[in-house]
Amino acid sequence: MRHLHTRTTRRRVVGAITAGLMCTAALVVPAATAPPARALDDGLARTPPMGFNNWNSTYCRAEFNETMIKGVADLFVEKGLKDAGYRYVNLDDCWAKPQRDADGKLVPDPVRFPHGIKAVADYVHSKGLKLGIYTSAGTKTCDPNGFPGALGHEYSDARQFADWGVDYLKYDNCNNQGLDARQRYRTMRDALKATGRPIVFSICEWGENKPWEWAADVGHLWRTTGDIRDSWASMLTIAKKNLPLAPYAGPGHWNDPDMLEVGNGGMTDTEYRSHFSLWSIMAAPLLIGSDPRKASDATFTILGNKEVIAVDQDPLGRQGSVLSSEGGRWVIAKEMADGSRAVALFNETASPQRIATTTAALGLPDADAYTLRDLWQHRTYNTAGAVSATVPAHGTVLLRVAPDPRWAAQPPAVELALKGSLFTEAGSPAVLTTTATGLGRTAARDVSVTLTGPGGWSVRPGSATTAASLPTGRALRTTWTLTAPAGTPDGSYPLTLKASYRSPTGVSTENVVPLTATVVVAPPAGTSYLGDLPWVFAGSGFGPAERNTSNGGKAAGDGRPITIGGVVYGKGLGVHALSDVMYYTGRRCTTVRADVGVDDETGAKGSVAFEIWADDNRVAATGTLTNAMPAQPLTADVRGAELVRLVVTDGGDFIDSDHADWADARLTC
Ligand code: GLA
Repeated sequence: MRHLHTRTTRRRVVGAITAGLMCTAALVVPAATAPPARALDDGLARTPPMGFNNWNSTYCRAEFNETMIKGVADLFVEKGLKDAGYRYVNLDDCWAKPQRDADGKLVPDPVRFPHGIKAVADYVHSKGLKLGIYTSAGTKTCDPNGFPGALGHEYSDARQFADWGVDYLKYDNCNNQGLDARQRYRTMRDALKATGRPIVFSICEWGENKPWEWAADVGHLWRTTGDIRDSWASMLTIAKKNLPLAPYAGPGHWNDPDMLEVGNGGMTDTEYRSHFSLWSIMAAPLLIGSDPRKASDATFTILGNKEVIAVDQDPLGRQGSVLSSEGGRWVIAKEMADGSRAVALFNETASPQRIATTTAALGLPDADAYTLRDLWQHRTYNTAGAVSATVPAHGTVLLRVAPDPRWAAQPPAVELALKGSLFTEAGSPAVLTTTATGLGRTAARDVSVTLTGPGGWSVRPGSATTAASLPTGRALRTTWTLTAPAGTPDGSYPLTLKASYRSPTGVSTENVVPLTATVVVAPPAGTSYLGDLPWVFAGSGFGPAERNTSNGGKAAGDGRPITIGGVVYGKGLGVHALSDVMYYTGRRCTTVRADVGVDDETGAKGSVAFEIWADDNRVAATGTLTNAMPAQPLTADVRGAELVRLVVTDGGDFIDSDHADWADARLTC
C-alpha cells in the first residue's frame, strides 16, 4: 500500500536518535564561527519574537478560524501571556481561498474568516497584540490543498498584508520552482519594506540553503530544521541541529528551531520543561503551538515562567552554546546582559544523571561566592563555585549564576546525587546510594536526607541519613534498599529524594529531586520473540509500535502481516522512524537477532537504518535500507546490558513512509 502521511513527514532531514554525543567546546568558541552579521536595521525583533501560531495544534482543520484566533487573543490577556511577553498571534497555512480573485488578490477563506483578515487584525490590535500571517515563496503553499503562494506576487501580496494590518509574515518554501532561495526571500524582504509597515519577516526554508550564512539582512528569523513534531525524538533532534548555530544569532536575526509543542500532549511535562528551557537558552522564537483554549494549568505554568522567558528575551541577544555534552549530559550556557550566565543542565538520557560544571568553566569572574538561582523551582542558593545537580531523566535544571556580593543572604546549595539502577523487579530488593554534598561557601547545618517511594514500597536506609554540618565539598553518603511489593504491576512510579537543612542564619531549606522508579519484568530464560515481551518504552514516529504486525497507519492495532521483499513473518515489531523501543534485560541476556527492513506496505518508498543499543553502547547497526532491498539479518551481543534498545533512524534523509520491521526479532537470555 502506498500511503500518504500527515504532511509534516514528507521531507526533511532528521538525524539519528542517539543516547548521547561526545563533544566538548569552550563556551565562547562555538562549533561554527559566524561572520559578523549585518542585521536588518529596522528595530524589529531585537529579542526573539514571542506569540502563538495555530499550525502545531490545528494543522489545516476547520477549528482554525476567526473564533479560534480571537479566543487566543482574549486568553493572551486573561491568562497573563501578554503580560509575560507574548505578542504575535499568527495564522499559518489554510487561511486563504485556493484561488486569487480576478484582480490577482488573495481572498480569505469565507468560512474560516467570514469578516476577512483586517477584522481579525483590528480585534487582535485592540487587545494590544499583533497579527501574523503566512504564505510561501513559491507558486502554492505547503498544504496539499495548495493555497496561493507569493512567488511573482510579492509586492501586491505584501501590500495586501500591510493594508490588512499584518505585523509578521512567515514565508514558507514549498513549490518554489527550483528558484534561488536568496533571491526569493530578498524579493519579499524588499516588498515588505516597500509597504512602509513594520513587519517581522520569518524565513521558513527549513535550513535547506543555510540561511544562517546569508539571511541576517534578509529576515528577522529563519527556520534551521524541518518541521517539529510533538515527540521527544523530534524535539531532541531539532535541538541538536540548532545548538551548533549559536554564533549566527543575535538581535534582529535569530535561529528558529520551529514552534513550541508544549501542551500538545505527546511529551511529559518534564520533557516540555526541557523543550521550553532549551528553546529559551537557544534564544529561539517562543511561538506557542498548543491551543491556549484547551491548555492545562501545567502548560500555562511552563509557558508563563517569566524567569525562563527572561533568559530567552535577554537584551544581549546571545544564543546559548554547548559547554560540554558527554553521555547525554549537556551543559549549555548563555551569557546574559547583566554579566550572569544562564545554564541548562540537560539530561538527554532515560535515567537520572549528575550533570556538573563550575563558575570558572562558565567564564564568570573570580569571587568568594556566587548566587545560583533555580529558574523552575524559583529558589536562590549560594555556591563556592560548583554548579551541579542530579537531573531527572529527560529533564533540565535551568539556573542563573552570578557573582553576587549579597550571596551570604542565601542558603548554601546542597547537591543530591543517586547511584544505582531505578529499574527494579517487583519483590526483589535493589540497592541505591545517595549523596548530599555541600556546595555553598557556608555550611549546610542539620542536614537530613530522605528517600520516599509509593505507599507499600519498602525504602530502608542502611547508613546515616543525617549530618550535623556539610561544609564546602563535604558529603553525606547513604545506602538504601528499595523493594517494590511482589505483584506490583510493571510501569513507572514516583520516588522523591530530598535533603532538608538549615543555613547558618537558621533559614530552613529543602532540595527535592523527583525521580521515577520503573518496575520491570524479569526477562524469561531461553529464546523469546520480542513481539511477545513487555517493553519498558516504545516510541514510534507515526502511530504506536505494533506487536507482530507492521506499523500500518496511525491507529493502534492497524498493522498488517510483517512483509519484507515479499517474505511474510509471523512475529516481530512494526514501527515507523524515528523509533526507539526499550526492553529490560537485567544483565541476564546474551543476544538479540532480527531480520530487518522496510515493510512492503510503503510501496516504493521508505529508507531507514536499524541500530541495537546495549545500555549506552551501539552494538549493531545496518546501513541505510530501502524498500527495494530484502531483509537483512542483524545480530547483537547484549551481554551485561541492563537495557536493550531497538532504534530506527530515517537513514539520513527525511522521514517519508519509513515503515520499519524488526521481523522475527528474538531475545536470548
Ligand atoms: C511547512 C512549514 C510548517 C507549516 C506548514 C503549513 O511544512 O514548515 O511550519 O507552516 O508548511 O503547510
